[in-house]
Amino acid sequence: MATAAASLRYFPSSFRNRSPGAAAASGGLVRLSPRRARSAAGVAAPSREAESAASLGDLTRVDFPILDQEFDGSKLVYFDNGATSQKPSCVMKTLDEYYRSYNSNVHRGIHVLSAKATDAYESARTKVANFVNAANSREIVFTRNATEAINLVAYSWGLSNLKQGDEMVLTVAEHHSAIVPWQFVSQKTGATLKYVGLTKEEVPDIEQLKGLLSNKTKIVVVHHVSNVLGSMLPIEDIVTWSNRVGAKVLVDACQSVPHMPVDVQRLGADFLVASSHKMCGPTGVGFLHGKFDLLSSMDPFLGGGEMIADVFQDKSTYAEPPSRCIVL
Ligand SMILES: Cc1ncc(COP(=O)(O)O)c(C=O)c1O
Repeated sequence: MATAAASLRYFPSSFRNRSPGAAAASGGLVRLSPRRARSAAGVAAPSREAESAASLGDLTRVDFPILDQEFDGSKLVYFDNGATSQKPSCVMKTLDEYYRSYNSNVHRGIHVLSAKATDAYESARTKVANFVNAANSREIVFTRNATEAINLVAYSWGLSNLKQGDEMVLTVAEHHSAIVPWQFVSQKTGATLKYVGLTKEEVPDIEQLKGLLSNKTKIVVVHHVSNVLGSMLPIEDIVTWSNRVGAKVLVDACQSVPHMPVDVQRLGADFLVASSHKMCGPTGVGFLHGKFDLLSSMDPFLGGGEMIADVFQDKSTYAEPPSRCIVL
């Protein structure tokens, strides 16, 4: 899993430190000039004259070897980044270097390769923490993808904290990865799923969401940016309203983290998930951001691996977060 180190290579600090204020001014979406985008990608910028003739697509294409092929006599154009993005050369190079020179057991070896892999793994965690402005890198739990991160919360937090009579609020526009785990929780605990519908403008009905919240609500599961509608939800408001009734909030940020500044402290949600494969990083890596005290209070999701403190024949004790939360 030290391969996670590769996942943010394409996003140097000039991208990571994007100001939320600038994003708000542009309606939440950051538009980079070709020159800034080029410099953010760590590639030498062309002259201003050459640049004016080149599109962002032309400037970026060179970084993505998969685009260097033709179909039916035309250059390959790939627009399915919301589903999964292509990988730039620097990410593939980093993965290749890892397997060629220091592949080994992260956190569980005492030799030099393991130390190097562990450093790379923890440095990837710090990069992700900085990227979303987490208060502490120990609030970042690496998972296999966003789906696993949501399942982690559903199994670890949901099964222990929900019971018959409790309610979970979701919108009908959630990705099925954010619906099915809560159906499992509902079937196992008797808690009820409440869905927010769409307005006639076909965006989630925020007034309905507000009206559904009550002291029965235990968790609100919402996307940040919708993969089907493209709309963006006012997460800070949803967190304020939900916290007022004592409900936790899980934000599915799969479509926002790759496209705009996401500041987990500012949003204030209890849990937030995203995925590397939608942001030019390797497939097989996602993350959960959770408030540290909440992560510490949760039962482990999977047993074995780095989640243990001590193992006895009849019981075990568990590590602190992030290790206790997942087995990779
Ligand atoms: C909004 C949203 N949530 C969750 C997922 C699932 O992400 P992953 O493939 O990382 O499990 C997707 C993937 O398309 C998505 O768009």
